[in-house]
Amino acid sequence: MAIRFLHNDETIYEDSKIIMSLNKNLLLKGPTGSGKTRLAENLAEDMNSSMYSINCSVDVDIESLLGFKTIEYIDGKQEVVFVSGPVIQAMNEGAILYIDEINMAKPEVLPILNAALDYRRTITNPLTGETTTAKDGFNVIAAINVGYVGTMPMNEALLNRFNVIELGYVSREALTEVLKAQSLQQEESVIDAITLFHTDLVTMTEQGQISQEASSVRSLIDLADLSTKIPINRACRRTIIDKLDSNQEKKAILNAAELRFGR
Ligand SMILES: Nc1ncnc2c1ncn2[C@@H]1O[C@H](COP(=O)(O)OP(=O)(O)OP(=O)(O)O)[C@@H](O)[C@H]1O
Ligand SMILES: [Mg+2]
Repeated sequence: MAIRFLHNDETIYEDSKIIMSLNKNLLLKGPTGSGKTRLAENLAEDMNSSMYSINCSVDVDIESLLGFKTIEYIDGKQEVVFVSGPVIQAMNEGAILYIDEINMAKPEVLPILNAALDYRRTITNPLTGETTTAKDGFNVIAAINVGYVGTMPMNEALLNRFNVIELGYVSREALTEVLKAQSLQQEESVIDAITLFHTDLVTMTEQGQISQEASSVRSLIDLADLSTKIPINRACRRTIIDKLDSNQEKKAILNAAELRFGR
């Protein structure tokens, strides 16, 4: 069975599904490793839909979204053909379009999608002059990592086209389930210590002592996996502490780790 997105706040999944079923665009907001991509994949699976992905960066341009022209030899003759990009493919097939890190794209690129994202559900490709109307089932999920270096605030008109779901921290109980399902670590006492450690990290984040990224579910799965092979304190350095730049943050987490895992 596919790995499932799990959260104590069940409205996250419920409302995401409702937003999609109403054919509205969904924006997932959360720090790195909080399960945005996993959630999108689960939604696609539940809706029996295929998913096309775009990873936004400053290099994303109209061609990487909509496609490009190229020359092909057909029956020995040169012909200009258009290779559809992910947006056009998803629209033509009535599939889900997943736009990852949408706030990393250059602000002048995304407005091309505006008509595809509102009631019109169409796009006119400036490269070909062709207009594409989305087939039923076309749905857009975008994801943003909040407060991340290099991100820009989303343009108002773009943001306005989305319905937002924020992925808050998972509870200790939900994390226990996630670790049992996704990590190699199956020792109850170790999983307990890791989930308590996560509770400490969340508290420290809320108090502003450490940054949000420090307590990601992804890193905790890594910690649990590595702890089956090396001492857990060392695993904690490799998976969490040594990713951080600030000595103050490192020290705070080291203290918490020693408290939960021993020296
Ligand atoms: N709530 C959750 N339920 C189940 N698995 C989760 C959850 N949160 C994170 N994970 C797991 O943690 C890992 C990272 O999740 P995912 O890739 O979805 O994060 P993300 O938010 O898309 O991160 P990024 O912003 O870096 O792309 C995956 O292995 C995923 O299965
Ligand atoms: Mg992701």
